[in-house]
Amino acid sequence: MEKNRIQVLPDEIVNRIAAGEVVERPASVVKELLENSIDAGAQNLSIRLYEAGLSRIAVEDDGCGMSRADAVLALKRHATSKIASHEDLDAIATLGFRGEALPSIASVSRVTVVTRERTAQSGTKLRVEAGVVTGCSDAGAPAGTLVEVEDIFFNTPARRKFMKSAPTELRNIIETVSNLALIHPKISFSVESEGRPLMILPPGQSLSERAEELSGVRPGGLYFAKARHGQRKLTFGFAAPHESRGHRRGIRLFVNRRAVNDRILFKALTEGYRGLLEQGRWPVALLWLDLPSDEVDVNVHPAKREVRFRDEGGLFRWVAGSVAGALSSAPWVRSGASAVEVPDSVEESPFCYEKSAPGSGRAAEALEDYARRALKPGGARSPFYSGGGYGRGGAGRAEPGKLDFSVNSIAEGAEEKSPGETCAMNSPFGELRYLGAFDATFLLFESGDRKLVIVDQHAAHERILYERISAARTGGKGQPLLVPLVVECSAAEIAGFAEREELLEAIGIRAELFGGQSLSLVEVPAGVTGAEGVGMLRDVIGGESFDSGESGGGGRADKLLARAACAGAVKAKMALDRTEVASLMRDLGETKNPSHCPHGRPLVIKMGRAQLYSLFHRK
Ligand SMILES: Nc1ncnc2c1ncn2[C@@H]1O[C@H](COP(=O)(O)OP(=O)(O)OP(=O)(O)O)[C@@H](O)[C@H]1O
Ligand SMILES: [Mg+2]
Repeated sequence: MEKNRIQVLPDEIVNRIAAGEVVERPASVVKELLENSIDAGAQNLSIRLYEAGLSRIAVEDDGCGMSRADAVLALKRHATSKIASHEDLDAIATLGFRGEALPSIASVSRVTVVTRERTAQSGTKLRVEAGVVTGCSDAGAPAGTLVEVEDIFFNTPARRKFMKSAPTELRNIIETVSNLALIHPKISFSVESEGRPLMILPPGQSLSERAEELSGVRPGGLYFAKARHGQRKLTFGFAAPHESRGHRRGIRLFVNRRAVNDRILFKALTEGYRGLLEQGRWPVALLWLDLPSDEVDVNVHPAKREVRFRDEGGLFRWVAGSVAGALSSAPWVRSGASAVEVPDSVEESPFCYEKSAPGSGRAAEALEDYARRALKPGGARSPFYSGGGYGRGGAGRAEPGKLDFSVNSIAEGAEEKSPGETCAMNSPFGELRYLGAFDATFLLFESGDRKLVIVDQHAAHERILYERISAARTGGKGQPLLVPLVVECSAAEIAGFAEREELLEAIGIRAELFGGQSLSLVEVPAGVTGAEGVGMLRDVIGGESFDSGESGGGGRADKLLARAACAGAVKAKMALDRTEVASLMRDLGETKNPSHCPHGRPLVIKMGRAQLYSLFHRK
């Protein structure tokens, strides 16, 4: 008989395909496991991570647990306790409903499930490797379920390669936990990384307490408004516009108790903020929407991050109007008021404001900071245990009244600029927009993080030349000029040349006597132009002796280098055009130490908006 061309795929393959959609990264595993625990009625959730979840994720709950038969079934595709019929699918009340998550996870990792129903005598331990059950036994266990996922993607190396750095994965996990925690404020969450506590959210919190804890605004800085329109309900948590951020992570959207990435809602929210935030700034804003189940479909995305609305236009107008209404009559608008009632600008229903209780932890910012450092040896301790120091005004921020001389990481490679941004340039301090020069000496820029950046052009050029000359020196070579340059000299300079010829060669400058009163410059340090070389030559042969008064710090040649660099560099009071400024900043980006000139003076000052504003006594 002829073999069929079309075959139904075996379960293992189907599960792996599904895993590609459901299980993108460790954070997706954490999300699925936590959702299962929440659906199982758990009140206390513990998450333990090793290597940001890449080597091990353990989620333990005190939920209803499973019988042995159910546990075995749970790992089968489309086995779910959550829906049984068509009608159920239209009104889903649980976070999970497809019976896909566990089998998908189990197909790309090694899973151990230990579970016990509250009334059962003993529990069950189940081991599954790449989707195949490898062990099933009785086990003593507390009521509830522990799911351990080890070596995620061990059998799909291509996917494993797509994992980001551990701090990024950890941050994604924290985001995931935070999103669930913001829908279930009564449930306690604890996250441990490498055995150290990373996040502890106590049980029984109110929504406002939880939201404040996780949004990173100052204590009491989060406000709440509620609106209602027919069966639609909205809760809006927001900080004042001046607490805006340069990124969108302060915005969180929830629909029917699910965190969603929704373009319409995002637009509606930002529309509500129109005129309140400058471009490139994003609010701290949380939006919880409750919609009747016939108005929204949550079953459109494998990870359920997307939803579809029946009446997008109407919803957009209602949300944007509610947000705008809440903001225009927010407590900070009428100073001092902490609780006001204002009419809904769209519908007749009133908002009611609540202010979050002050004093809870500044978790969000601290966590970000932690995620960056947590995996380093001797890294951060839990912000919840260290009692502050990570939050606002903590690490990484300039103290008030002090200028911030910090230098960002050196820009990686020049990026293409769009034609509209001719004055944007790359620099070691990030991408800068050139504003102009002050006193033909100080170059003024605006940085991407909205700081005023002031660069001393002479000092910057000195740094560039200094490093080029040092490199040439260690390379031991100058670079011959195609056409030697003739330099007219005084008798004193000629004498100076005779005295310092060797020193000059040590830094890559070679000149020859040319007639009685001139020198011919034949070699300059690599990367230095002829004109710059002339400046250096003159400085070295004409300057006073380097030997005089030299004491400590930096050898003779280094001093000479610094002086030569200084001599070759553009001077203060020398107007540069935009292109020159751009190449100066680009070259500065190639230096090892773009923050100080070779004499140790700072060459850049960054001033935050707050500092500048406070100089004008503005908030
Ligand atoms: N922590 C848990 N406690 C109790 N039962 C659980 C737990 N985790 C899973 N289960 C059971 O296993 C079943 C399968 O879980 P799985 O996550 O694969 O599917 P689901 O949650 O039903 O749907 P989805 O694929 O949308 O998440 C669940 O329906 C539930 O009955
Ligand atoms: Mg599930």
